[in-house]
Amino acid sequence: MHCEISTDPRDILKSSHLDVVPYALRVSALSERLGIDLSSTLFALHSVPLCQGRGSHAEIRRAAAGLIADRTPALREAIPAMVEERCAVLCRAGRVEVMEEVIRPLTSDTLSILVGMPIDMGDYDLISRIFSQTLGVAKRRRMERELGDLVSRLRRAFPDAGDDIVGLKLALAILGRDAMMGTFGCTLHDLARAQEGGAWSALDWPEVPTRTGVPYIDRIALKQVSVGGETHAEGDTVRAQLTRLEAAEDPRARLGFFGSGAHLCLGRALTLDLWSALSACLAQSSARVRVCDYALRRDDVFHIPQILMLEIATE
Ligand code: HEM
Repeated sequence: MHCEISTDPRDILKSSHLDVVPYALRVSALSERLGIDLSSTLFALHSVPLCQGRGSHAEIRRAAAGLIADRTPALREAIPAMVEERCAVLCRAGRVEVMEEVIRPLTSDTLSILVGMPIDMGDYDLISRIFSQTLGVAKRRRMERELGDLVSRLRRAFPDAGDDIVGLKLALAILGRDAMMGTFGCTLHDLARAQEGGAWSALDWPEVPTRTGVPYIDRIALKQVSVGGETHAEGDTVRAQLTRLEAAEDPRARLGFFGSGAHLCLGRALTLDLWSALSACLAQSSARVRVCDYALRRDDVFHIPQILMLEIATE
């Protein structure tokens, strides 16, 4: 008798009949097949909590939570000034490429404090794409170099830290970069487009971002299951489509963007803190905003703008 799971992405992520995708196994097989060194990618995949199966997950999650808790006071203290500095360009007249001039610098500031070392995310375009199933060989090699470079920098910055701590700091940068840039970029586009020509201060700023940079999460069926009446055999991939929550009537349902169950996002609180600071800052500005250009990056894992160009007017 196989079990029935609803199509609600939150139920799929909570199901004990599904487990995480074995990304490390797949990359290891790929490295062998292509004959290329992906050792830094494998180091990253062995360090990211959400890639760990049931046996080792709890311990890594606890360590990641401890690391985030240690850095949270410093982050909370820094957020107001960080946001004010990075959002200033959105409150004065002119054209702004928001991803380059606001979102990526803000993400670099945040992850530098979280990891405890200055990191410019402009140097690490590809690190979050370790989950990609369609990345070409050239990009995979570049991603491997970026990860290798970040690992060596972390080892130099924290000479007394063991590989577990270096791996966790790397994991936070990987999990935070594109998820946060995508969520903030797509949500700011959504709000600016709805506001077309109106003032930031006239917007009804949502407590939870309206769009997610993490459109789905995959799981593997541990046995035959039925999802919304569709049967999945043992070993099949089951997708939790988180973008479904973008249209939810109750805005609180969008908290589901951060997952649910054993792998609930450990970056949720800090992401929402940053979002509320950003909203509070722009809600004070009478500058008027218009979208000039917008396009999503071609990406099989994240929703992240390649470009978000805004025209800001103050007269
Ligand atoms: C600095 C920002 C962030 C950090 C440090 C972070 C960190 C993490 C960590 C450590 C996990 C794994 C938890 C585990 O496996 O036990 C996780 C899971 C997750 N995060 Fe985040 N996150 C951040 C931002 C975001 C954002 C902005 C989103 C999307 C709105 C997001 C969505 C998720 C989801 C959906 C999961 C669950 C994955 C699963 O169930 O497999 N995260 N995050």
